[in-house]
Amino acid sequence: MKVALAADHAGFELKQMTVRRLEAAGHEVIDMGTNSGKSVDYPAYAIGVAKAVSAGKADRGVLVCGTGLGMCITANKVAGIRAVGPCSVDHAVMSRRHNDANVLCLGQRSLEDRTAFAILDAWMETGFDGGRHARRLSQIAELEKNWRVPK
Ligand code: RB5
Repeated sequence: MKVALAADHAGFELKQMTVRRLEAAGHEVIDMGTNSGKSVDYPAYAIGVAKAVSAGKADRGVLVCGTGLGMCITANKVAGIRAVGPCSVDHAVMSRRHNDANVLCLGQRSLEDRTAFAILDAWMETGFDGGRHARRLSQIAELEKNWRVPK
């Protein structure tokens, strides 16, 4: 899969480890920064990844900040994005099975590395159940038609 990734300063280290983990698993990674621990504002990074996924330039997105929360709030403003910030493997699996989540948000300050990687692996490997869940996602897509972020 092609995966777009980004982090702010508070997620930089976990983002670097995530890049290596995804590449080792055979995924193609588009690293959209940040490239150091120097303080930056997370919205621009979230919007970059969200736009790449929404435009089909990447199949999935991964965003890392201190908590994962700011990235998740921002990414979900972009039409077509279903961003989630799961705190357990079960949450991650269900976000794929029922919500077809296409952006994963992780918190470097909130999750131990091994928990973050377990969530990442489960999220990357789980498919969408479709059926009644697809009907519900199309209802969300209808809502988005009137709620686009300015270009
Ligand atoms: C940065 O200090 C922190 O606020 C940010 O990484 C993130 O946790 C915001 O949601």
